[in-house]
Amino acid sequence: CGIVGYVGPRPSQDILLSGLARLEYRGYDSAGIAVIDDAGSLDMRKRAGKLGVLREDLKAAPMPDGTTGIGHTRWATHGGPTDVNAHPHLADDDKLAVIHNGIIENFAALKNDLLSDGYEFKSETDTEVAAVLLGREYRANGGDLVAAFRATVAQLEGAFTLLAVHQDQPGLVVGARRNSPLVIGLGEGENFLGSDVAAFVEHTRNALAIGQDEIVAITPDGVQVTDFDGNPVQPEPFEVTWDAAAAEKGGWSSFMAKEVSEEPEAVANTIRGRIHEGTVVIPELDGLDDLFSGISRIVVIACGTAAYAGQVGKYALEKWARVPVDVELAHEFRYRDPVIGPGTLVVSISQSGETMDTLMAVKFAREQGAKTLSICNTQGATIPRESDAVVYTHAGPEVAVASTKAFVAQITALYLLALHVGRIRDTIAAVDIAEHVRELEAIPAKIQRVLTLEQAHIEQLAHWMADTRSVLFLGRNVGYPIALEGALKLKEISYIHAEGFAAGELKHGPIALVEPGQPVFVLVPSPRHSALLHSKVVSNIQEIQARGARVIVIAEEGDAAVLPFADEVLHIPLAGAMFEPLLAVVPLHIFAMGLATARGLDVDQPRNLAKSVTVE
Ligand code: G6P
Repeated sequence: CGIVGYVGPRPSQDILLSGLARLEYRGYDSAGIAVIDDAGSLDMRKRAGKLGVLREDLKAAPMPDGTTGIGHTRWATHGGPTDVNAHPHLADDDKLAVIHNGIIENFAALKNDLLSDGYEFKSETDTEVAAVLLGREYRANGGDLVAAFRATVAQLEGAFTLLAVHQDQPGLVVGARRNSPLVIGLGEGENFLGSDVAAFVEHTRNALAIGQDEIVAITPDGVQVTDFDGNPVQPEPFEVTWDAAAAEKGGWSSFMAKEVSEEPEAVANTIRGRIHEGTVVIPELDGLDDLFSGISRIVVIACGTAAYAGQVGKYALEKWARVPVDVELAHEFRYRDPVIGPGTLVVSISQSGETMDTLMAVKFAREQGAKTLSICNTQGATIPRESDAVVYTHAGPEVAVASTKAFVAQITALYLLALHVGRIRDTIAAVDIAEHVRELEAIPAKIQRVLTLEQAHIEQLAHWMADTRSVLFLGRNVGYPIALEGALKLKEISYIHAEGFAAGELKHGPIALVEPGQPVFVLVPSPRHSALLHSKVVSNIQEIQARGARVIVIAEEGDAAVLPFADEVLHIPLAGAMFEPLLAVVPLHIFAMGLATARGLDVDQPRNLAKSVTVE
């Protein structure tokens, strides 16, 4: 869910709505705002559907404006996406409005208690329980909203960011945070709260990070942060390094189209400042050599696309740093009693830095004594704050739900990390590092070449295939996780059945799926790196072609061996063996986007998904 709060001199409705527009990638099942109007009453409007529905509603029937307000965009957990279940929820005779991100685990018990006290509920949500509870505590604490928050959070279990405004307290927004994200934006005579800086970046780039289990109260000229017991806390200031324009669609048809076009820059910016005289120097890891020297194992944890980046990273970490690497989905890792300890480095990967499954796994790893490093694209996010070290990807804000430029940036960061760890552990020669660094530096221009030469061709192909019901993806070695990523992207945004397989596994089962006309993408490794691997994949192509598959090959320029067996060939420039994934994934991103577009779907906001899933 996305959360925004405002206090200041300006009418708040537009500020809240434009903040929500920037946060909509966090959920778009429903949206709502509550404002204390200039006459001193609380007004609230909420609607199921995307933010546009709420906007239209406010246009058709305007609501009085005021200078204090909160807004919410929802990804449904408790209760379906209906008007009633949308946030804000009201309490205290409709004078108190509350919005929430997270899940309150003990809501049923709290609700029973409140019901037996005579309170009534309109919705099925856990949030309304928190709202009603806050209302009761507000009364019990003599109209002190901050004290009411303290009393309320003491009774809540689970993860939450809660924000509230009360009609009798104009000029005040109070929030509390446990595990779910919340940051403060500092303006001139006005202040903001947001799930992330996107909520307020068009107004200010000065931000304060709020820690776990803290309560924040903002007024037009002040910010007060305390822990849950009321002790003052000094929040950590940071500056937002990207400007609002970076999170705008510009002239592009979608954020996804813009973000795919930014893949070259995402790689270039992630490398920038980290390569020095032919070697890798990661300033953030200065003085942290012992994170890497004493370890016997690395476990990479992540979810979704980030986990596929992790699978690619495994090849590089094992090859260059000679450390055994396991890659595991964060939510599986966390709940199976894994064997980890001080000799384990747990590397988490997360674009948002807020994915609850990943965050919980990082916390768990720390409790077990493991060292933790996070690869993250969002400054001030929770996962890096909970880790011993962080290597930021510099892909810039990613808005489309399906991850693209962050994925190539994550692989880039993993490669830098693998070379760095290899250097510290002395498992790779300086000349080899220098060569890989040169390769990496050449990647942005090569991605650009794929975009320039192949984009129109791939879009045409996607257009022809608009009615396809299933697509298979085959890859081998570092190409295998890319096949998985190609399939995930297609599922996410075009709702077509898609599966990725290791090419060698084909004959052990998946080949049974192949019937005449079945489209299959095959990622072909360069014959220059391994004639053996290349010939095995070419054999796979022959096997499926013989069974009538429609074969779409992604191969390096000049690979003539694949031509006789391919219905379509998409070319990528020549690159080192480890670097092919950074190129081969680009046609797959374009293809997924092209197919979804051809089917008339919203590529930025696919159904049922949210970009940043802050519940477990
Ligand atoms: C969600 C998104 C995916 C994303 C995953 C991990 O499920 O829909 O696109 O890959 O979360 O997100 P993260 O922010 O942790 O990289």
